[in-house]
Amino acid sequence: MTDPAVLSALEGAVAAAPDNDTLRFHLFDLLLGAGNPQRALELCTELLAKRPDHVIALEKAAYACDMTGDRQRAESYRHLANALAPRPAPDTSEEAKVVPLRVISGGGEEERGRFEVEAADTRLADVAGMDEVKRRLDLAFLAPMRNPEIRRMYGKSLRGGMMLYGPPGCGKTFIARATAGELGARFMAIGISDVLDMWLGQSERNLHEIFETARRSAPCVLFFDEIDALGRKRNLVRQSSERNVVNQLLAELDSVGANNEGVFVLAATNHPWDVDAALRRPGRFDRVLLVLPPDKPAREAIVRLHLRERPVGDIDAAWIASKTEDFSGADLAHLCESAAELAMEESLSTGKARPIQQADFKRALTQVKSSTRAWFDTARNYAQFANEGGVYDDLLAFMRTRRLL
Ligand SMILES: Nc1ncnc2c1ncn2[C@@H]1O[C@H](COP(=O)(O)OP(=O)(O)OP(=O)(O)O)[C@@H](O)[C@H]1O
Ligand SMILES: [Mg+2]
Repeated sequence: MTDPAVLSALEGAVAAAPDNDTLRFHLFDLLLGAGNPQRALELCTELLAKRPDHVIALEKAAYACDMTGDRQRAESYRHLANALAPRPAPDTSEEAKVVPLRVISGGGEEERGRFEVEAADTRLADVAGMDEVKRRLDLAFLAPMRNPEIRRMYGKSLRGGMMLYGPPGCGKTFIARATAGELGARFMAIGISDVLDMWLGQSERNLHEIFETARRSAPCVLFFDEIDALGRKRNLVRQSSERNVVNQLLAELDSVGANNEGVFVLAATNHPWDVDAALRRPGRFDRVLLVLPPDKPAREAIVRLHLRERPVGDIDAAWIASKTEDFSGADLAHLCESAAELAMEESLSTGKARPIQQADFKRALTQVKSSTRAWFDTARNYAQFANEGGVYDDLLAFMRTRRLL
């Protein structure tokens, strides 16, 4: 149960920043957990007084009313929420359809099912910087794979998965794929649309099939992207069907843990605070790893990487790295593209091709900004007020050194 001191600190924070919905809803969750649905409900009604059409506040208010036993009031909140945000009609567009049978490579004759299995060819050496992340991945997966003798001696199994979290675009997916490459394993990246299905029970079947496919493809890294969407805290979900999906995921993870023959599970999220705590128990995603924006040497390497196949003049990658603190890998990619575009535009207008120059980067830097700040702004509240078991200690330490607290 949450420490009353944390609750009262959060109450203070909400009073000081009444428009911060993230904070308010976080306090809401903690209050429900602490058995105080009455105050949780007030948090919603305060917000609804200002914004009566706030769907999330309505849904949460309904949930709090369920807890206080006021069924009738719960129903009316729910009714309003549904009216304002009707459930989308079943989507029959191309995108929404289940991924078709597609085996990228390494498939051979055997059938691998309808989920995409890749032969990962990136290696950890292709990932710039991230030394600490690499070290932890090495300890958890690679070293035990390389040394089965030592592993047996210490009784260390390859049980349990790892959850990567951090701001968007900083290489979570990239390093997961590289881990597979390093293990000589296949790679299956699973997104929410691969699992969720409007038909009752089909999502659970999809999940089961995904794990079966991974087993058939072993050694295989099974990577769940946006795990918060699949394994959402069960007290946040309204539909029992969503709860069933979390339960199925837990069961599958446990069975992989109990009988792991070469299936390694990794997950990534930008919102670790929304992930159901049950997913973090031993044998599941029991290790949590922060993936931060690249440091200066890594930024330099990423810039070089993106310029490798472009015509470049005299470019000072170290200078660019020094001007791009807090840029994500994706931001840096965007910056390189913008600089290339500027050079191309000029070449097109003069009819004479010229290489990308430092000046193009100077101009591009006035247009491209870091996208990670917003994430840190959200993360701050959780890191400070929901740091149970010290899960966000790494994040707090980083934010302190970067003066983001
Ligand atoms: N350390 C790195 N070294 C080289 N390239 C990187 C690195 N980090 C990020 N990149 C580049 O940035 C791109 C975006 O990274 P990626 O998609 O892995 O981020 P992510 O953390 O999974 O983001 P999201 O949270 O949005 O899913 C990668 O395709 C890669 O080109
Ligand atoms: Mg990703």
